[in-house]
Amino acid sequence: MRITVDGGKCAGHAQCHAVAPDVFELDEVGYAVPFAGEAPPGLEEQAGRGADACPEGAITIEN
Ligand code: F3S
Repeated sequence: MRITVDGGKCAGHAQCHAVAPDVFELDEVGYAVPFAGEAPPGLEEQAGRGADACPEGAITIEN
């Protein structure tokens, strides 16, 4: 499972971190830290919930 967090779309809603704190990090002002890469092993379900929670569609999941 590949995760992409698009920093250009993130508006700082922080819902990704609220529901998937082990997958998505926030920076000092509450925006998701941009990331592209494989989901941490065992955290795929959490990653999916985080992506679904983002109202901006800033997180893309590819299986
Ligand atoms: Fe940003 Fe969406 Fe998370 S707007 S902080 S990626 S919920």
